Amino acid sequence: MKKMSFLFMLVLLVGGLFACSNSQSTGTNTTEEKKEEASSEPIVIKFSHVTAPDSPKGKAADLFKQLVEERTNGKVKVEVYPSSQLFDDDKAIQELPRNTVQLIAPSTTKLVSYDPAFQIVDMPFLFTSDEAVYKFWDGEGGQILSKKLEKYNIKVLAMWANGDKHFTNSKRPLKKPADFKGLKFRTQTGKVLDEQFAALGASAVPMGFSEVYVALQQGTVDGQENTFNNIDTQGYAEVQKYLTVSGHGRLDYLLLTNTKFWDSLPEDVRKTLEEIIVEVTEQQRKWSEELNKESYEKLKESGMEVYELTQEDMEEFQKAMQPVYEKFADSIGQDLIELAKKANE
Ligand code: LMR
Repeated sequence: MKKMSFLFMLVLLVGGLFACSNSQSTGTNTTEEKKEEASSEPIVIKFSHVTAPDSPKGKAADLFKQLVEERTNGKVKVEVYPSSQLFDDDKAIQELPRNTVQLIAPSTTKLVSYDPAFQIVDMPFLFTSDEAVYKFWDGEGGQILSKKLEKYNIKVLAMWANGDKHFTNSKRPLKKPADFKGLKFRTQTGKVLDEQFAALGASAVPMGFSEVYVALQQGTVDGQENTFNNIDTQGYAEVQKYLTVSGHGRLDYLLLTNTKFWDSLPEDVRKTLEEIIVEVTEQQRKWSEELNKESYEKLKESGMEVYELTQEDMEEFQKAMQPVYEKFADSIGQDLIELAKKANE
């Protein structure tokens, strides 16, 4: 018995020594192999967004993936998560600095959690055309706002468009400010939109994008404001009878990344990605304009009752919404508001 256990111990000892020396002798190789493996492993970019794959943002995210994977010869892999599959916007905005996601494209107003000035897009009837919006974000206005994110380890890569917002609701045609009285509207976030609806005698209920359809269906809210394309691709026509074409605010995006992640990319890769972003941004803005026009036609055919505000109505709305400027012009920044107005010229 004693002899057996001695032999057993000996086998264990020799086996252990052999294993040890074996691992030491191949140790360098293993590390090298590991290094090689690591360098041949693709860089993975997770891209999270909340809209449908066939929206201007969804199509652009997919085009970005396609071009990156083609042009980096497999060095970079892009995983696109549409329709809030990975995160809703609020969560994505929190997660980006932690690098659990590397690309996001939230509506600019949702960055209010970093700075109130991002609500400039909600100032009623401020921007008068798509071109003015591009001029603002591609110019000094965009630079001032991008700087505000730097200290949070967030880098702005581009501004992507969606367009003018319009009202929908299930209760009645909204033609004049007084028609809003007592209605509840889903909003994206922020105090400016609260005040916009308060100025019309209505109330604002902030809510994540993925929850809106059910809230409209169940009557938790009576209406909402969004672009033609979001109204169309989210199927709101099924649960909203009235559409008021107002163009009272904007819904556009900032394509954002984690600064440390971006700076850690090999230079050639980063350069390729930046070139692709310029190309995709141009196409994204074209899609935004085209798809919103198409969606408007679809909404008119959907059975929704559509009312286009006249110039006279518009003036009444501007007057009714004036308190928004009185309350928020300072926190948004008079300089930014002036730059937006200049972009309209
Ligand atoms: C919304 O929440 O209504 C929008 O921000 C959704 C989007 O990304 O277009």
